Amino acid sequence: MNKDSWEKSAERFFGRTALPEYGPFSINEEQHGLFGDISNQKVLDIGCGSGHSLQYMGNRGAKELWGLDLSTRQIETANKLLSNQPVKVTLFESPMEKNPGLPSDYFDIAYSIYALGWTVDLQQTLKNIHYYLKPGGLFIFSWEHPLHDRLSYEKSSFNFNKSYIVEGPEYNEAWHNEVIIHHRKLSTYINTLIECGFTIDKVIDDVIFPDNNISDDPSKWYSTQKAQLVPATFIIKAYKK
Ligand SMILES: C[S@@+](CC[C@H](N)C(=O)[O-])C[C@H]1O[C@@H](n2cnc3c(N)ncnc32)[C@H](O)[C@@H]1O
Repeated sequence: MNKDSWEKSAERFFGRTALPEYGPFSINEEQHGLFGDISNQKVLDIGCGSGHSLQYMGNRGAKELWGLDLSTRQIETANKLLSNQPVKVTLFESPMEKNPGLPSDYFDIAYSIYALGWTVDLQQTLKNIHYYLKPGGLFIFSWEHPLHDRLSYEKSSFNFNKSYIVEGPEYNEAWHNEVIIHHRKLSTYINTLIECGFTIDKVIDDVIFPDNNISDDPSKWYSTQKAQLVPATFIIKAYKK
């Protein structure tokens, strides 16, 4: 079901959530440098979408660009976008819950920009990422903060009308119920990373307001008014032990 929806809506998202941005109302890699020096690093993008984050990595001197994504459309676009990169590019059309043939102990960096939360099996996905990384390898991901969609805008106010603590698959309102996304607490992401052998370096849920976006429509999925109440995005930076 999620694959079908992504095939239909891929175009809407081309380059929309990609490095140097981590997500709505969040920090920017250019200012914060969470990845450090990318040059000569072998990088893997989980849920690479249209390939714009991999392009960013390539432009910063990465040695090899690898990615996987569920959607045929996204992989086709990413292959085109990255065709003039001077380094090796290897993309797989695959769900992140499975290993499509990626090597173990190979990557210096794995990351996922607004894609990891799509997984239907967080533990298996994080085990896979741990397997692909070299010991000491870096893993960074961003995703929508799990408080964000608990709040909805109705009759001129924000209402907290979904449980934060009840986890599991849910139809997603923003997609008009065409996709299922698993709601997970922030602690579930943190604890599953630890169980899968990662050391956590940083959890970031700072809210950054763009200078020009102060009076937008509060009923939008990501609005300034909502971001004044709850973070829209969180980021976790971790290392393979
Ligand atoms: C917001 S986009 C990611 C943007 C991308 N990271 C970038 O930097 O340009 C989310 C992506 O997750 C992919 N996706 C959804 N579920 C997936 C799954 N189970 N396994 C792999 N990819 C998945 C979608 O096809 C989509 O391309």
